[in-house]
Amino acid sequence: MSAEPQTRVLPADPDAVRTAAACLTAGGLVAFPTETVYGLGADATQGEAVARLYAAKGRPAFNPLISHIPDLAAARRLARFNAEAEKLAAAFWPGPLTLVLPKQPDCPVSDLATAGLDSIALRVPAQRTARALLEAFGKPVVAPSANRSGHVSPTDAKHVLADLRGRIDLILDDGPCPVGVESTIVALLGEPTLLRPGGLPRADIERVLGRPLARPDRAIDEDAPRAPGMLASHYAPKAAVRLNADAPRDGEALLAFGPPPAFAGTMLNLSPTGDLVEAAAKLFSHLRRLDAAGVRIIAVMPVPNEGLGEAINDRLARAAAPKP
Ligand code: TXA
Ligand code: MG
Repeated sequence: MSAEPQTRVLPADPDAVRTAAACLTAGGLVAFPTETVYGLGADATQGEAVARLYAAKGRPAFNPLISHIPDLAAARRLARFNAEAEKLAAAFWPGPLTLVLPKQPDCPVSDLATAGLDSIALRVPAQRTARALLEAFGKPVVAPSANRSGHVSPTDAKHVLADLRGRIDLILDDGPCPVGVESTIVALLGEPTLLRPGGLPRADIERVLGRPLARPDRAIDEDAPRAPGMLASHYAPKAAVRLNADAPRDGEALLAFGPPPAFAGTMLNLSPTGDLVEAAAKLFSHLRRLDAAGVRIIAVMPVPNEGLGEAINDRLARAAAPKP
């Protein structure tokens, strides 16, 4: 048997952040918290490090990654900002918004990370450890969610360890992620387009733009290019998922939202008070806990499709889609 490489887990203090920055410089893979989910970081400018990142996740290499930078000045070196991009960055960065913009001609991010596109996805996270790491490192960091490809995104350091132990160098542990679903992705290449609902509600973005966001011709998916209208299985627990369940059936576990029906079986509640912010923060960890409990079918109560509910329902629909 070959020895597995060690994955170190360090509490995210200033020493650990320096260690993590040095690890990135050496081409290593570092998982770190953001306000949305834990990301798996690599130096965006080192093609080899990016290739190792795809391999560690088991992610098809044609799907592009988000480059994370500490501020707008760093973002401008990578992409061109039009007036609407400026408005959104001013209103929502740092925060759970990713902008897809035209790449600068001299953008140093590896072509492997942008999958050879002439656009680039950029995000300025708000979480303190993410910010400290990006500032210490001084170069863009590509970071998909720090899970094996196709699994539920990690919102806690122990989720990262469960998926990637022995496959990555370091995990910075700074507790649970407060938002709990991935960033909202908006493309500003032509008409502003919502590519992925996420941690920033659509209505907030539309208010700042003063117009509605267009829908993409084709929704994005990290694991496979897919035909229009098809819902790929993704963000998937091992259990089968049944949506819009008013009550669980025999043999099902219940993922409740709001006041639950009387039920003696396995049940977790996304938010007993029906708070969508709380529900988003708990979504992925509850799915992981129900999987760990060995349940075969998860019945999910309806979640209203407003505010963060749009991202929650998007992830739930993917979790419920037929598995490949
Ligand atoms: O909250 C988040 O966004 C987390 C944290 C770690 O920042 N990251 C994340 O990354 O969710 P990932 O790789 O799981 O999802 C990034 C998505 C992918 O679906 C990818 O297809 C899309 O962004 N993307 C990246 N670059 C793109 C581009 N140039 N055009 C269109 N979509 C792009
Ligand atoms: Mg992901």
